[in-house]
Amino acid sequence: MTVRQNHPIGVFDSGMGGLSILRALRRGLPNESFIYLGDSARLPYGTKSKETVIAYAKQASEILMEKGIKALVVACNTASGHALDEISEMLAPRPVIGVVKAGSLAAVKASEESGILVLATESTINGGAYEREILSLSPKTKVYGRACPLWVALAEEGHSMPKTSLQELAVPVVRHGIRGFSKTPNTVLLGCTHFPVLASYLTAQLPRGTKLVEAGETVASELDVVLKNNDLLNADSDKSPVVSYIATDNRNRFLKVGQFFLGEKIDHVELVQIGGVGGRQY
Ligand code: DGL
Repeated sequence: MTVRQNHPIGVFDSGMGGLSILRALRRGLPNESFIYLGDSARLPYGTKSKETVIAYAKQASEILMEKGIKALVVACNTASGHALDEISEMLAPRPVIGVVKAGSLAAVKASEESGILVLATESTINGGAYEREILSLSPKTKVYGRACPLWVALAEEGHSMPKTSLQELAVPVVRHGIRGFSKTPNTVLLGCTHFPVLASYLTAQLPRGTKLVEAGETVASELDVVLKNNDLLNADSDKSPVVSYIATDNRNRFLKVGQFFLGEKIDHVELVQIGGVGGRQY
């Protein structure tokens, strides 16, 4: 299949957290159409083995490939860390970019060779992708990693709680995540799609002046360059770009929780079954 400039860009995450990456991409590339896939049937990826993450990520990317995307952004940090090579090979010649490189670049720029604390899922931290990427960009930087598995659940469930209840829960959970780092390095990287919605609670627990970094804007700049280099940037600003959404399970939950991460209402979500699971409507 020939890919054209007016084809959409795929964005894939294990769930809805990647909608915050989509938001940054839409801001940075306003002429582009996007198809977002959240693998809601199989979230979380962050507690799974590398092999399982690769298998899941390839299946999800295949669905987007069949929808005719011209490029893919792997918004899920766990999938970017484990499966970027496999997905790139499968989608070639379409360009594929992940969030690990962009997040690392943003963190290295902010830290100016002092330390970086990476907060991410267990699978991302154990796989060491951020550490490798940061050290390849800045070998003198000290990199610390901390898995914060509870934060994913808190970010997903927080939307349905009154703000005061969320605050009551978020403070100890966030504190627990950064335990032992009473004096954190000057830069803290949010290496998980779900963490930006907890940023205000985290900032309140960090020493004043700590820089909190996320990948969104850097991914948008990288995508812009990659599309230009591949002659795939949509120069046609006359037609309104289209953004569509796919969930692999529980469409109603996606409609309800998704807006919390996207920052705006989602009107329609297509339901697709994946790997023989999901595809249920509630
Ligand atoms: N999307 C995942 C990531 O960014 C977080 C949620 C999960 O564990 O699936 O690593």
